[in-house]
Amino acid sequence: MLRQLLSAMTLTFVLASQAFASGPAPSEAQLKRGKLLFTQCQACHQVKAGAPAMMGPNLAGVMGRKAASAPGFNYSPALKKSNVTWDAATLDKWLHRPSELVPGNTMAFAGIARPEDRAALIAWLAAETAAPKQAAARK
Ligand code: HEC
Repeated sequence: MLRQLLSAMTLTFVLASQAFASGPAPSEAQLKRGKLLFTQCQACHQVKAGAPAMMGPNLAGVMGRKAASAPGFNYSPALKKSNVTWDAATLDKWLHRPSELVPGNTMAFAGIARPEDRAALIAWLAAETAAPKQAAARK
């Protein structure tokens, strides 16, 4: 019984992560969850293009961007020389444990433990910070 339950859970998880990895549109529920999770980031980050940096850099257009490249933000030397480019895989590592991906970075955030939470947040972030959405927001 327990074994069956565990394997059902594993299967659900594998399916969910495959769904994310192969990149179909995220579900409404996932985006909602991602938006909710972003409240943890909001004190330090804006996502609208042109909005000023706060404690952290503006994240508009972050997908595909080189780390530490938002103009006008005073990044740590560690992040500047990290040579990371932000995509679903690198953001997953960053949001799991920022200090592990880039030791010495100055983002005061411990990390998000649950893989499905990170996936939801990244899906929301990708949708919210993509160029077409940003253009629509400026109208
Ligand atoms: C206490 C403030 C704070 C919180 C909370 C925070 N961040 Fe950050 N974030 C920063 C700072 C500061 C940096 C720059 C770090 C450096 O230069 O080493 C940063 C950098 C980043 C970067 C790299 C940006 C770039 O231009 O290279 C991403 C992506 C990011 N944060 C996402 C998030 C997400 C998503 C959350 C919420 C889960 C979050 N942050 C929570 C302060 C914060």
